[in-house]
Amino acid sequence: MLEKVSDRVAVRSILILSAVVVGFLVWFIYGRQTSGYADHAFVETLPLVNCSLNALTTVFVVIGLLCISKRKLRAHSACMILATASSALFLLCYLLYHYFHGDTKFPGQGLIRPVYFFILITHIITSIAVVPLIFTTLFFAASKRFQNHKAVARWTYPVWLYVSVTGILVYLILKQYTTITA
Ligand code: HEM
Repeated sequence: MLEKVSDRVAVRSILILSAVVVGFLVWFIYGRQTSGYADHAFVETLPLVNCSLNALTTVFVVIGLLCISKRKLRAHSACMILATASSALFLLCYLLYHYFHGDTKFPGQGLIRPVYFFILITHIITSIAVVPLIFTTLFFAASKRFQNHKAVARWTYPVWLYVSVTGILVYLILKQYTTITA
């Protein structure tokens, strides 16, 4: 059935869906009050859970790329679907953390400050860009348009790796300078 959807309609629908997802995230993260349960033990474990999910995504994307370079198509497909699932789970846990805890202010001074904000800002920008890239790459795979799949995937995987690795870095830097406990 997906084979019948034209590229134009698919890309337009994916852009609209991505705008809805990103719009919801921006509203959820920046447009509302937090709940005030920041000290709950469950909330305190979420930063480590989020960092681990980013690490898992990184591993699945790298293994998925190794698989396709050896023409192991089923393993490639499975790894990329697992990478998508761990990214989606990360997003859910990230939203939960934001719901209960809100923003974590960065107190570090000196050279680490511009370094941290460079990583954070580029992480945020690329995490927005990766949403339509992942949807489009998956759509072209699911509709068996593998030439298009390859063309988009060459952008998707480096951006995706950048997002997940910088997610880990943000956690590690914050852990050095703040009281996140996990
Ligand atoms: C967003 C997730 C995905 C990413 C980032 C991704 C990435 C890639 C990349 C980079 C290549 C090109 C390798 C090369 O240069 O030869 C590729 C090829 C391929 N991918 Fe994926 N992939 C994803 C999901 C999937 C899924 C779910 C399937 C399941 C059908 C799949 C099936 C294939 C196939 C069959 C090829 C080989 C195409 C050909 O050589 O003609 N991919 N993928």
